[in-house]
Amino acid sequence: MQHEQRWYDETDRILTRNNNDPSALIAILQDAQRKLGYLPKAVLARIAEKLHVPLSRVYAVATFYKAFKLKPAGKHVVKVCLGTACHIKGGPQIMTAFENELKVKPEDVTPDGAFSFESVRCVGCCGLAPVIMVDENFHGKVTSKDVKQVLAHYR
Ligand code: FES
Repeated sequence: MQHEQRWYDETDRILTRNNNDPSALIAILQDAQRKLGYLPKAVLARIAEKLHVPLSRVYAVATFYKAFKLKPAGKHVVKVCLGTACHIKGGPQIMTAFENELKVKPEDVTPDGAFSFESVRCVGCCGLAPVIMVDENFHGKVTSKDVKQVLAHYR
């Protein structure tokens, strides 16, 4: 497929920049994710093949670090802050409200590809707790009741 060829080309460039060095696995995965938005299975397999390391090792690293995404994100990414201030002020209830409204679990993408959502730790504006981000936009003092309206704004 065409996009797979692009993935392989990008991945090969990243591997070459890192001298196909297995000890640079984390840096290689970071670069690949930055370039491709997430780490498709085919890319993990390519990395394992070129570095001559077992695919299981590449998977172990990619799944250990929360920063690595193995699935593509939605068109809009909702991040619900669960740092201490936001947790106390209702962050978990907001997570549940998004889950109920979008009918997907955190990290999953809605069937129409429009939204994915995830939890994050303190986004640096605790005075506005509880805080969510949609793409690059901050929304403060959010309640569960606001969730529908926030999503409608981005639909
Ligand atoms: S804890 Fe949510 S912004 Fe700091």
